Amino acid sequence: MKKGLFITLEGLDGAGKTTQIALIEEKARQLGLDAIVTKEPGGTPVGDAIRMLLLDPCYSEMTVLTEALLYAASRAQLVHDVIRPALQQNKLVICDRFLDSSLAYQAAGGGLDYDFVWQINRQAVDGCLPDLTFVLDLSPEESRARQPARDRMEQKTLAFHRRVREGFLALAEKFPHRVHIIDACRSPEEVFSEIWEYMSRHLAARR
Ligand code: TMP
Repeated sequence: MKKGLFITLEGLDGAGKTTQIALIEEKARQLGLDAIVTKEPGGTPVGDAIRMLLLDPCYSEMTVLTEALLYAASRAQLVHDVIRPALQQNKLVICDRFLDSSLAYQAAGGGLDYDFVWQINRQAVDGCLPDLTFVLDLSPEESRARQPARDRMEQKTLAFHRRVREGFLALAEKFPHRVHIIDACRSPEEVFSEIWEYMSRHLAARR
């Protein structure tokens, strides 16, 4: 690989991101790629502390602006401490959620201005954008059936999660070369094989 490759997985809770990340990591290692896995919010000690604030149901009064700033703050630390150094070492970085989650959850879902959310995140990631993003798509009803609401974000309404899903779909239209919608209502093997098709094409084009 000429330089590191940065891929992100997105989607509603329960879409199967964790399973797919494990499969991608395993395949990458079989091919001798140096891969690291990280997640948002969190992935650093500072980010893990921010994650607790964001997800604790006791902070039900948290405004969507506060949310957006906290997610961006966790992201800035993760890029600085983990993602950028790994990419500089030519690694494959696989991240469970990244800035598209803020565009879908805080802008599309929460009603914040898209350009505002984009701008604060542009500052937070300082040019470090994913090469490929896979949105594991499923309905909010299926998401809830697979993963009962426990944390503060999961406890938001079905209508909120419908807007989030639409937000993810709109991102694929806006960034067609980067963001790919993957139907998550299939077996993990089928989902993985579609993801890997995109990834192998991307890897081949970089050689
Ligand atoms: P997780 O359950 O996938 O770890 O993510 C935690 C929750 O945070 C999930 O419900 C999605 C939400 N989230 C946002 O609202 N905005 C963001 O920018 C990120 C990264 C996550």
